Amino acid sequence: MRHALPGERVSLAITEEKSSYLRADAIEILRRSPHRVVPPCPFSGPGRCGGCDWQHVELAEQRRLKAAVVSEQLRRIAKLDRSVEVQAVPGDHDGLGWRTRMRFAVGPDGRAGLHRHRSKEIEPISDCLIAHESLPVTSVLAETWPEMSAVDLSSADIVEAVGRQWQIPEGGFWQVHPGAPGALVGAVLADLGVQPCDVCLDLYAGVGLFAGVIAPLAPDGEVIAVESQPDAAAAARSNLADLTNVRVVADRVDRWLRGFTDGADLVVLDPPRQGAGPEVVDAIVGCRPRRVCYVACDPSTLARDVALFANHGWVLDSLSAFDLFPMTAHVECVALLVPAEKDEP
Ligand SMILES: C[S@@+](CC[C@H](N)C(=O)[O-])C[C@H]1O[C@@H](n2cnc3c(N)ncnc32)[C@H](O)[C@@H]1O
Repeated sequence: MRHALPGERVSLAITEEKSSYLRADAIEILRRSPHRVVPPCPFSGPGRCGGCDWQHVELAEQRRLKAAVVSEQLRRIAKLDRSVEVQAVPGDHDGLGWRTRMRFAVGPDGRAGLHRHRSKEIEPISDCLIAHESLPVTSVLAETWPEMSAVDLSSADIVEAVGRQWQIPEGGFWQVHPGAPGALVGAVLADLGVQPCDVCLDLYAGVGLFAGVIAPLAPDGEVIAVESQPDAAAAARSNLADLTNVRVVADRVDRWLRGFTDGADLVVLDPPRQGAGPEVVDAIVGCRPRRVCYVACDPSTLARDVALFANHGWVLDSLSAFDLFPMTAHVECVALLVPAEKDEP
């Protein structure tokens, strides 16, 4: 049920009926949660813009709810009891003004807006409070866009982050919160403990973010970055051209790992929402790394993959979680996995 909070009593409207579940919107709040706030966005609410899930929730409570979701997934799927804290990242302004890329849908009248929840209908809006100030949102929304089905906005095709410049091709992945690259890189480097001779795999490498910060710490080793999207792999090659110990491979991780037999000291993986899955987890373990750092945008597939690592005797050593998508239910986790210590004979 959208637009409600745990502990509230509401009247609701059913929005979708399936054989095993219903979807609903809370339309009248009969008993309020103390964590309910007036949504800062005038376009959120039942039947309105589908972009944000939690405009009506106090920001600290949003983070507590996300932490509870991560803990629950780990408990239910990986059978692990962990308390989780979701941290704000630098550049957070009350959870607003963070999205550096936006896609607006264009309706038959040529006006741009955002889709309603689980719908092709477009909510007409005049502003978007989570959009970054560098995006010309209000002027795009005031104009008409005949003949177009969508308008894409991006604050820059070349960004500076973690001390380097990054070229991002159209359609290539880059974290949308300006504080995300720094926060994730900080957590990944702290987890990995890179040594000068290490051979490190950066799997699902995008335009090379993690390879670019690991390579200078392993001057006598090598970083192999694997990315399947050809344009992103080409951008990674150009972004990391000054780092002679980086090799960028344009291939699918599962396919490439099948032919990789050399072993690795460290692995960082940052897969899309569907996670890594059994074949990739088996192959990573087969590389016999010292540590694996798993960056995850979906806590349930992370928990499934943590359980797959556990089948090989690996343990979840630590877990950080970041609020890279305030006002939505999304959360990003960085998990450190290590081989379980063998008992002394
Ligand atoms: C969540 S993004 C991470 C990118 C990068 N680590 C970063 O932080 O900017 C996932 C990346 O994996 C790529 N990808 C998706 N499936 C893949 C696969 N099977 N093999 C290799 N790369 C894949 C996507 O194109 C995307 O660039």
